[in-house]
Amino acid sequence: METVYIGKTKDVYRKEDGNFLLKFKDDVTGTDGVFDPGANTVGLTIEGAGQAGLRLTQFFFEKINAAGIPTHYIDADIEQATMTVKPAQMFGEGVEVILRYRAVGSFHRRYAKYCNEGDALAGYVEVTLKDDDRNDPLITADGLEMLGIMTKQEYQTLVEFTKQIGEIVKGELAKKELELYDIKFEFGRVGEDNHVALIDEISGGNMRVYRNGEYIEPLQLEKLMF
Ligand SMILES: Nc1ncnc2c1ncn2[C@@H]1O[C@H](COP(=O)(O)OP(=O)(O)OP(=O)(O)O)[C@@H](O)[C@H]1O
Ligand SMILES: [Mg+2]
Repeated sequence: METVYIGKTKDVYRKEDGNFLLKFKDDVTGTDGVFDPGANTVGLTIEGAGQAGLRLTQFFFEKINAAGIPTHYIDADIEQATMTVKPAQMFGEGVEVILRYRAVGSFHRRYAKYCNEGDALAGYVEVTLKDDDRNDPLITADGLEMLGIMTKQEYQTLVEFTKQIGEIVKGELAKKELELYDIKFEFGRVGEDNHVALIDEISGGNMRVYRNGEYIEPLQLEKLMF
């Protein structure tokens, strides 16, 4: 198989039929040997982290596909820690979409004059550019259009899908008494018609989850869900 990309936590290969294979590695992001899901560098290796991330990803993508929301997901092989997906074209060099249900993290740091940490938010959506050198800057819908990254129509679709997907993830977590504070998604253009679709993964490292006000670590989340 042809190697398309060596990522920090996943490698991407092209299969003979044109689909992509994502290999979930045991490398996790962090700084100075301490696990930090938000970090932009690989910090350490945790045995089983790849499979745990894939199990959650498979679980959520199957629910999202079943709800009729377009994704890249085809199937997953837990044993091999691989997932077969449809190849996506990035918006620019890639965007990340953050959906917030509580005022924590960078939202609270930015807007602390107007909210208290932990205040409820009604599904607030933000888009950032994947740009490690510039710490993934925030961008507006106007900025995305002006810089030729995505059209206004694509932006609207992406926001709508984000809110629908968020409700699905939030609902599944709530079944286990877990509360979703915020979550990060990636979207791309998929298929011959270049439709907007959810790509990448949905695992513990992509979200902040709490139980009774206590933060749940990504690997612990997988144990609590299954
Ligand atoms: N269907 C897809 N088609 C093409 N690329 C994809 C698809 N799904 C995910 N990707 C890309 O595969 C890469 C997986 O690598 P990985 O998760 O290790 O992230 P990264 O790019 O190294 O870093 P980060 O997650 O911090 O941005 C990401 O760049 C992601 O955007
Ligand atoms: Mg990634």
